[in-house]
Amino acid sequence: MLLRCGIGAALLLLCCFATNAAAAELADKLRDDSELSQFYSLLEQNPVANSTLSLRSCTIFVPTNEAFQRHKGPTHVLYHITTAAFNKDQLQKTMTSDMDGNPPLYITKNRNGDIYVNNARIIPSLSVELTNAAGRRQVMHVIDEVLEPLTASQSAKADVNNLDAMQFMQQADHLNVGENNRLRTYRSQVSLMKKESLYQAPGTHTFLVPVDEGFKLSTRSSLVDAKVIDGHVIPNTVIFTAASQHDEPKTSAAFEDQLKVTVSFFKQKDGKMYVKSNTIIGDAKHPTGVVLAEIVKANIPVKNGVVHLIHRPLMIIDTTVTQFLQDNGENGALRKFYEVIMDAGGAVLEGINNLSEVTILAPSNEAWNVSSIDNIIRDRKRMTDILNMHIIKDRLNVDKIRQKNANMIAQVPTVNNRTFLYFNIKGEGGDAVVTVEGGGVNATVMQADVAQTNGYVHIIDRVLGVPHTTVLGKLETDPMMSDTFKMGQFSHFTDQLNNTQRRYTFFVPRDKGWQKTELDYPSAHKKLFMRDFAYHSKSILERHLVIADHVYTMKDLAQMSLTTDQVVLPTFRDSLKIKVEEEAGRYVLTWNYKKINVYRPDVECTNGIIHVIDYPLLEEKDVVVSGGSYLPESSICILLANLIMITVAKFLN
Ligand SMILES: *[C@@H]1O[C@H](CO)[C@@H](O)[C@H](O)[C@H]1NC(C)=O
Ligand SMILES: *[C@@H]1O[C@H](CO)[C@@H](O)[C@H](O)[C@H]1NC(C)=O
Ligand SMILES: *[C@@H]1O[C@H](CO)[C@@H](O)[C@H](O)[C@H]1NC(C)=O
Ligand SMILES: *[C@@H]1O[C@H](CO)[C@@H](O)[C@H](O)[C@H]1NC(C)=O
Ligand SMILES: *[C@@H]1O[C@H](CO)[C@@H](O)[C@H](O)[C@H]1NC(C)=O
Ligand SMILES: *[C@@H]1O[C@H](CO)[C@@H](O)[C@H](O)[C@H]1NC(C)=O
Repeated sequence: MLLRCGIGAALLLLCCFATNAAAAELADKLRDDSELSQFYSLLEQNPVANSTLSLRSCTIFVPTNEAFQRHKGPTHVLYHITTAAFNKDQLQKTMTSDMDGNPPLYITKNRNGDIYVNNARIIPSLSVELTNAAGRRQVMHVIDEVLEPLTASQSAKADVNNLDAMQFMQQADHLNVGENNRLRTYRSQVSLMKKESLYQAPGTHTFLVPVDEGFKLSTRSSLVDAKVIDGHVIPNTVIFTAASQHDEPKTSAAFEDQLKVTVSFFKQKDGKMYVKSNTIIGDAKHPTGVVLAEIVKANIPVKNGVVHLIHRPLMIIDTTVTQFLQDNGENGALRKFYEVIMDAGGAVLEGINNLSEVTILAPSNEAWNVSSIDNIIRDRKRMTDILNMHIIKDRLNVDKIRQKNANMIAQVPTVNNRTFLYFNIKGEGGDAVVTVEGGGVNATVMQADVAQTNGYVHIIDRVLGVPHTTVLGKLETDPMMSDTFKMGQFSHFTDQLNNTQRRYTFFVPRDKGWQKTELDYPSAHKKLFMRDFAYHSKSILERHLVIADHVYTMKDLAQMSLTTDQVVLPTFRDSLKIKVEEEAGRYVLTWNYKKINVYRPDVECTNGIIHVIDYPLLEEKDVVVSGGSYLPESSICILLANLIMITVAKFLN
C-alpha cells in the first residue's frame, strides 16, 4: 500500500515537473530560439498575446526571422494566434484568428503533403505541442512567411472588420492594397449586373478582381457581363498562390452546359504569378480561348475567401495580336520577344499588323537567354528571317493543329518564305503536350491558345531557327529522322556527327522515304537495316553527307545551280553531284536523273545543316539484288578498293 502510494506520488510529482518544465519551455522555446526571436519580442509586447500565452489554449503561427526580413509594414501578432490548440492533423480548413473582428485563417493541404496557413508554409519538423502551467494545451507552428491580414491604408482611419469580398471591393480605396490598385470599374460592373451576391456568398471562395488599369480600352468595361463576372470566381476553393497547384484548371462559377470556363494559376520563371481563363465552350458573346492576366496584388484574405487583384479582366478577347504583343512587351511575359522585334526594325510588327488572321509562336523571356543567339541578334536580315519563322498567316489553335495532325506531323507554312513549322501533339485534353519544330529547333508550347481578335499567340520555350544541338543530337531526337539515325548508329556512321569542329551538310531521307524504298525494293530495304550489311549502309549514308568548311543552305545550292548543270559537293569518299531548283515554292533536287523533293530544308544545327528529303539517294545498282550474296560481295569490293588506296597512299608517302 505504502509502496503504491509512493509510486503514485512519484508519478504525480513527475507529471507536475513535466508540465512545469513544459510551461517554461514554450515561452523559453520562443525566447531562446534565435531564429524566432523577432516574433517573440512582438508577442511579449502585446498584452493580449502575452496573456493568452500564459492563460489560454491556443495555436500560434510563428514566422521565422528570415520571413521578417522579407516582410514590410506592421505585423499583426493576434492574426497569428487562434483560440484553440490544433496540431497538424487537427488543423481545420478555416480557423478563427484572435485579431479584432476575428478574421479567419485558411489552411491548405496540398498534394505534396505541405500544409499552408494562408500563403505561409508550415515547416513540419518545427511544430511543438505543449501544456502550459495553467494546464492548457498549446501548439506552435513555425511558418515561412508573415501572415498579412486585410487592413486599412495608413491614411485612412477606418476600422476594417472582417470584410467579405463585396465589402472589400466597396471599401478598396481605403484599404491597404497598393496605391494604384483602384477597383471602381469592375465594382460598378458587378453592381450593374446585380452580381453582388456572388461576392457576398458565405463560404470559402477565390475571387479575381481586375484593377482599373485593365480597362484602359474604353469599350472593355461594357464587355464585363454577368457571365464574365462568374468567370472571375472559383467557388468553394481558396487558392493562395504559394499553396496553389500550378497549371491545374479549376472550375469557375461560369461552368454550365452552354459556357465552360476554367481558371488556373501559373508562375513565370522570373517569379511573376499569372492567372489564365480558358473558355472551353463559348457562345456568341464569349469566344473560346485563353486569356492571361498578371496578378498585381495576390493573397488578400477576406471573410469568405481570398482575393487576387489582376491586371486585366479574364475571358474578354478584345485586342489584336499586335496589341497583345505591345501590352505584354513593355514589361511582361514577352518583353524580350518584343524588344528583338523592335530592334530588327519594326517591319516584322508591321507585317503582323497587316495580316487579317495570324498566329504567333512567341518565345518566352527565358528562351532568349542562350549564348547561340548573341551571334545572330545583331544580324538584322537573319533576325528578321528568324522572327518571320514564328509567324503563321492563319488562326491556328491546338484543336486545329490536332485536326491537321490526325495521321502525321502537321506541316504549316510561315511568313518566312520556304520555311515550315512542324507540330506534334502528345496526350489528350489538359495533359496534351504540343511541340513545334522550326529551323532545327524543337520547342514546347508552354501557354497555348492565348486568344486575340485576329488569331492566337502560343508561348514557347525556345527560339525557333537558332540551333542548339549538333547534327547527331538532331538525328537522335527528331521523329522524322529515326530510320536514318538507326541505320547510321549500328554502322557507326553517326559517331562523327557530334564533332563540333566540322561543318556538315546532311541530306537526310525521312522515315517515309525509307518506307518507300521498302515498297520499291523489299529485299534491299531489309538489308539496309541489318547489322550484317552495316558496311553497305554506311557507304550509302556517306553519299548523303557533304563535309566542307561551311554549310550549304538550300538557297545556296539553288543559286549555285543557276550557273551549272551539276553542283559538285565534297563527301567523305568522293563527291556528290546534284542540281537544286525551286518549284512552286519548294526545293527539288536532281540526282542521277532522279528528282527528289526536299521536304524540310535548312534544319540548322550547331555543326551543320540538315535537309530532309523525300527519298534516299539510292542507285539502281545499290539495290538490284537477286540472291543474298550481291551486297556482301560489293562490300568486299569496296573494302578491297579501300585497302588498295590506303596502300597506294602509303606508298606515295
Ligand atoms: C508577459 O507575461 C509574463 C508571464 O505571464 C509576465 O511575466 C510578463 O510581465 C508579461 N509581459 C508583459 C509585457 O506584459
Ligand atoms: C503593310 O501594309 C502597308 C499598306 O498596305 C504596306 O505599305 C506595307 O509595306 C506593309 N508592310 C509589310 C511589312 O508587309
Ligand atoms: C540566363 O542564364 C544565366 C546562366 O545560364 C542565368 O544565370 C540567368 O539568371 C538567366 N537569366 C534569365 C533572365 O533567365
Ligand atoms: C516571299 O515570296 C513571295 C512570292 O514568291 C514574294 O512576293 C515575297 O516578297 C517573299 N517574301 C520575302 C520576305 O522574301
Ligand atoms: C520534338 O521532340 C520530341 C522529343 O524528341 C518529339 O517527341 C516530338 O515529336 C518533336 N516534335 C516535333 C514537332 O518534331
Ligand atoms: C555529343 O556531344 C555533347 C556535348 O559535347 C554530349 O553532351 C553528348 O553526350 C554527345 N552525344 C553523343 C551521343 O556522344
